[in-house]
Amino acid sequence: MTYRWSESTDALDWDELAALYRAAPLGNKTPQGLKVAFGNSMFCCFVYDGGALVGAGRVLADGVDCAYLCDVALLPSHQGTGLGQQLVARLVELSRGHGKIILYAVPGKEPFYRKFGFRRMRTAMAIFQDPEAAAARGYTDET
Ligand SMILES: CC(C)(COP(=O)(O)OP(=O)(O)OC[C@H]1O[C@@H](n2cnc3c(N)ncnc32)[C@H](O)[C@@H]1OP(=O)(O)O)[C@@H](O)C(=O)NCCC(=O)NCCS
Repeated sequence: MTYRWSESTDALDWDELAALYRAAPLGNKTPQGLKVAFGNSMFCCFVYDGGALVGAGRVLADGVDCAYLCDVALLPSHQGTGLGQQLVARLVELSRGHGKIILYAVPGKEPFYRKFGFRRMRTAMAIFQDPEAAAARGYTDET
């Protein structure tokens, strides 16, 4: 299977990207919100099968110290084929040189990321806009 990879948002269909995250599933993200998030990200990665967007991810980075890898997802039709591994490998490669590359996984997906060298952090903390929902989804131990 030949895929086309892109790091540009120039010709991106933001509605198609929102539909990809809904289908993955990785939440309901609005096209407008995605435009802001990807627009403010140092690195973006998209993969196309024919004309269809089938995978995406991005890295919010400061260019020297910290790179935060997020919004990694594939259409269900393309999951489990090794494509996710290629996508994360590209995002990690784009982030090389930063003091640290961080992420937080959807609960259960940690083993997928371990293979790239990501290790569990002992002191990571977050302020979620909806603390109850974050706890219910397994991201935090406390509210
Ligand atoms: C997570 C996701 C990007 C992984 O991509 P994928 O193409 O399905 O995964 P791959 O086929 O590249 O898998 C690569 C390897 O990781 C393993 N793997 C994938 N998910 C795993 C999991 N939950 N636990 C353990 N191993 C896992 C695969 O078995 C495979 O191992 P192998 O190469 O030794 O056979 C994809 O499944 C997805 O989009 N899921 C829905 C959205 C989501 O949860 N995104 C992650 C946010 S943290």
